[in-house]
Amino acid sequence: MTTLTTYHVSTPGQLVLQTRDDLVIAHTLAQAGIQFERWAVRTLPADADSAAVLSAYAPEIERLKASKGYTTVDVARITPEHPDRAAMRQKFIEEHTHADDEVRFFVEGAGAFYLHLGDTVLQVLCEAGDLISVPAGTRHWFDMGPAPRFTAIRLFVSPDGWVGHFTGDPLSAAIPRLDAVAA
Ligand SMILES: [Fe+2]
Repeated sequence: MTTLTTYHVSTPGQLVLQTRDDLVIAHTLAQAGIQFERWAVRTLPADADSAAVLSAYAPEIERLKASKGYTTVDVARITPEHPDRAAMRQKFIEEHTHADDEVRFFVEGAGAFYLHLGDTVLQVLCEAGDLISVPAGTRHWFDMGPAPRFTAIRLFVSPDGWVGHFTGDPLSAAIPRLDAVAA
């Protein structure tokens, strides 16, 4: 279930607030300048390819492209059997920024975004139906967990796709990870 958990950087191991209320989550993120939406989840066959996924959500994708100037759209899919899952998890779990917004819509599965905003870290556990846009320049990281499973639509302004600038801040190691929260 979509969950927002707040941490303070002075006590990173201890949650401050936690909510599963969609309206509270959307309001809290909006106040922080983070776009968050809930889209109606379409029923797709288990073997739906990327074209079928993009077609199913075409109206929402076109709306975002028109409003935000996104030019590139693709579908990322990872399963617990992925041979590079540990390396992929480790890459995205280090704090970084992007020159572009990081836009993800979760078609299925789950993953946690962590947004480092001043003295606060907002952990957003995203599940199917969640659209989140991490604004360009925002310090953040992403945890897909030790047994990752998600399909996500990704939108980019730049055709270069995912380019991360790592901050070297060790904070991400001190905040509870996805498997700790999901347990
Ligand atoms: Fe990122």
